[in-house]
Amino acid sequence: PGLDKKRHVELKMDQALLLIHNELVGTNLTVYWNSERCYHCLPQALGNVSGSGEPGKPSTAPVAVSTQHTSILQLNDTLEEKEVCRLKYKFGEFGNYSLLVKHVHNGVNETACDLVVNENPVDSNLPVCIAFLVGLAVIIAVCFLRFLLSLDDFNNWISKAINSWETDRLINSELGSPSRAGLFGDDAQPEVWRLSAVPPRLRCVDTFRGLALILMVFVNYGGGKYWYFKHASWNGLTVADLVFPWFVFIMGSSIFLSMTSILQRGCSKFRLLGKVAWRSFLLICIGIVIVNPNYCLGPLSWDKVRIPGVLQRLGVTYFVVAVLELLFAKPVPESCVSERRCSCLQDITSSWPQWLVILMLESVWLALTFFLPVPGCPTGYLGPGGIGDLGKYPNCTGGAAGYIDRLLLGDDHIYQHPSSNVLYHTTVAYDPEGILGTINSIVMAFLGVQAGKILLYYKDQTKDILIRFTAWCCFLGLFSVVLTKVSENEGFIPVNKNLWSISYITTLSSFAFFILLILYPIVDVKGLWTGTPFYYPGMNSILVYVGHEVFKNYFPFQWRLQDNQSHKEHLIQNIVATALWVLIAYILYRKKVFWKI
Ligand SMILES: *[C@@H]1O[C@H](CO)[C@@H](O)[C@H](O)[C@H]1NC(C)=O
Ligand SMILES: *[C@@H]1O[C@H](CO)[C@@H](O)[C@H](O)[C@H]1NC(C)=O
Repeated sequence: PGLDKKRHVELKMDQALLLIHNELVGTNLTVYWNSERCYHCLPQALGNVSGSGEPGKPSTAPVAVSTQHTSILQLNDTLEEKEVCRLKYKFGEFGNYSLLVKHVHNGVNETACDLVVNENPVDSNLPVCIAFLVGLAVIIAVCFLRFLLSLDDFNNWISKAINSWETDRLINSELGSPSRAGLFGDDAQPEVWRLSAVPPRLRCVDTFRGLALILMVFVNYGGGKYWYFKHASWNGLTVADLVFPWFVFIMGSSIFLSMTSILQRGCSKFRLLGKVAWRSFLLICIGIVIVNPNYCLGPLSWDKVRIPGVLQRLGVTYFVVAVLELLFAKPVPESCVSERRCSCLQDITSSWPQWLVILMLESVWLALTFFLPVPGCPTGYLGPGGIGDLGKYPNCTGGAAGYIDRLLLGDDHIYQHPSSNVLYHTTVAYDPEGILGTINSIVMAFLGVQAGKILLYYKDQTKDILIRFTAWCCFLGLFSVVLTKVSENEGFIPVNKNLWSISYITTLSSFAFFILLILYPIVDVKGLWTGTPFYYPGMNSILVYVGHEVFKNYFPFQWRLQDNQSHKEHLIQNIVATALWVLIAYILYRKKVFWKI
């Protein structure tokens, strides 16, 4: 009976084998499992183990348990529904464990559950550590090489050794990127001078965008199938949850910087508005094409077309923020330009109408999220539904946000596989790029606009810029601390990528200000780092994003793995694919091919 017949369990990635030996005569056991990360979840039945026929002859059943997080196992007497024992353990990938359930005769009749390790698990994080160390080694090697090349003696030595100016030049042009041309010889010096006199573009902005984009490509390609490179099931943050908001943030900064320079050149606001509308429309169209591939579920029809998506959200956010800036655009205050002195809060006070609109939008988000009545669900519900909240609200995934999408767009036109369906077993469709969350992505982009304002208003006053970045970073950080009570699930508003909750926005913009705080002095002020290799994809973000989505399943971005359940092989594949996109972006940069819409 039960699992007794099924002697073999096919182990998948992130699973371990658990053999349950039941020595209790005549007592059938039911095994329940729960992940520690699953918040207030109903335990899930893993299987049954029949009672032992006679003493000393335990009956055994194998089960597969997840190794991603700590497991909570509970063994119940099947008949009486009484708990026999419970234990908490972090299993290791592909380990082989035994759980011995037996009587202990110490006067009273008690049962004990002992866990024994039969075969040690593999270390599934080893490939990530190795990849990290290899990456570090490459960085150190490149730095060392650059340092050597910057030494005149070394250069002379090379010249002498090769004894041919032509070969030297060839080698140099092979190794150097245009921005690094200054390292070699005299001919490059005027260019360096020109660059520093008129900084055409802030490199730190493009570098940050490239960094977010490359991480996004890596996690979209699977991130080695590690849980921390996938989106969080519901509340909480993983590496994958960082990238999209950063991208939105940096889009806000670019909107402000490019719009100001276009307006300064005397372009009419009306023409600019037309351009903004057209770009947003294009982004949304390209986005809809990209989120509806035919390869996974067979040809789609109009009644299954997914409407929201990453580029769609970028398009809408772009439109709202750009129009907002256009409506209230003011030239950079005279005092900031001429006297190189900007009064203390000029960057904020000069944009008070925008702030007002943003605060109003945020009130709409809060009001809808917490006060919109959702049929069959508690008002203000922020949970995942499914087996969460002890299974009381299985169809309430995402509360108001989910309800609004299902109502306005329809179940069939939104994302069908939200990250919550793995851990929380949700069944309803839920779109992480839904309508309500767009409000908060506008807020995120607006914080990016603010970063752009700081960079422009206090240009050449490095100290002022750094102080402001630090202040924003701390302020937003504190705000997040209050909202979340430094808890994954128990704060007022938990950090949540699926909902794009306001605490998610404040947390990630705090991080974003921190990154700018690091990048700006290193990349733009001191010029210690050119932003390579992130700079190149950052200059061609639409192309890299669209390209990586479209060519996802093509060789050599994907190939047949020897062992489909190995993190190592997935990781290698995903790193190679990501590196290829960096290379493609670099080649296009050298050839001056940029896809701008
Ligand atoms: C797990 O360990 C048990 C006990 O040592 C052994 O009998 C069994 O064959 C092992 N299973 C696998 C799949 O290695
Ligand atoms: C949730 O939805 C499913 C399928 O639509 C339905 O069968 C089920 O009764 C619903 N549950 C509740 C509690 O409304």
